[in-house]
Amino acid sequence: MRARVISVSNHKGGVGKSCIASSLANACGNKGKKVLLIDFDAQSNCTDIIMGQQPNLATLYNVIKDDMPIQKAIQATSYENLDLLANEPICASFEPSLYQRLPENYYYLKDRIEPIINDYDLLIIDNNPAINIWTIMALVASDCVIVPVNASSKHSLQGLNAAMNSIEDISKTYNPNIRFLKGVINMVDKRTSTSKALVQQITRTWGERLFTTTLPTCTAVQKAELVGQTVLRYDPHAAISKRFRMLADEFLTALEETSTVTSMLYPEV
Ligand SMILES: Nc1ncnc2c1ncn2[C@@H]1O[C@H](COP(=O)(O)OP(=O)(O)OP(=O)(O)O)[C@@H](O)[C@H]1O
Ligand SMILES: [Mg+2]
Repeated sequence: MRARVISVSNHKGGVGKSCIASSLANACGNKGKKVLLIDFDAQSNCTDIIMGQQPNLATLYNVIKDDMPIQKAIQATSYENLDLLANEPICASFEPSLYQRLPENYYYLKDRIEPIINDYDLLIIDNNPAINIWTIMALVASDCVIVPVNASSKHSLQGLNAAMNSIEDISKTYNPNIRFLKGVINMVDKRTSTSKALVQQITRTWGERLFTTTLPTCTAVQKAELVGQTVLRYDPHAAISKRFRMLADEFLTALEETSTVTSMLYPEV
């Protein structure tokens, strides 16, 4: 069976894309899914979280620079059922040359993952906070998109709208099969009225297009990041770790449901 390819994307920075991509990959691996996490952001945050102090044997750099087959660049990790295509900051320097060959390069990632697509259940792609060649390559390769929204920032709501627009653009051009899966509200702080008001506003507008599981603001996330671990490994009993396990269940169910729907990019408001 072909893996489902899921991008975690929002052009707004700091909404929790890397935290969610790495923790969801970890949680789905623990639930028995064979997962490949693709760190497609040269900031390499997912690589740091998953690999910690361990050196990378190869990265996306080798794939782009040396034309290394992706199966050689993928590395096993210490997490159950989880492999990683790592990234490194130098990859950002490839951007100008990638623009030299368009539209062919929009299909770059889609073509590279084809040889390994049957080896996994899920390919989860972490994206950079922009609309650029990297995000287009990722969306062209993806079946669906999860959009994290930061419950403490009104601007991240605009990011949700912008993400929907790019998904629609890509669906009309390079990838008619792409669909919006769901939004996920991150960094909910029940103690602040701003967070409460924003969660209400987001829920009113986006309703069923959001995962019902929301993610609380939790200091364990930053502590885990400091030591190069997912929060699930760092503190499996933290409130957010429980939420990630629930989110993984909801996510896997939503994926199953979308595999049976053939029309409709996403529901009408
Ligand atoms: N639920 C949470 N509770 C506490 N801190 C969080 C939570 N989610 C994310 N963070 C922290 O917020 C910061 C931004 O998160 P993250 O790096 O996942 O966002 P991002 O959207 O990937 O950012 P970028 O756009 O730069 O790639 C990180 O320091 C992370 O540890
Ligand atoms: Mg990130």
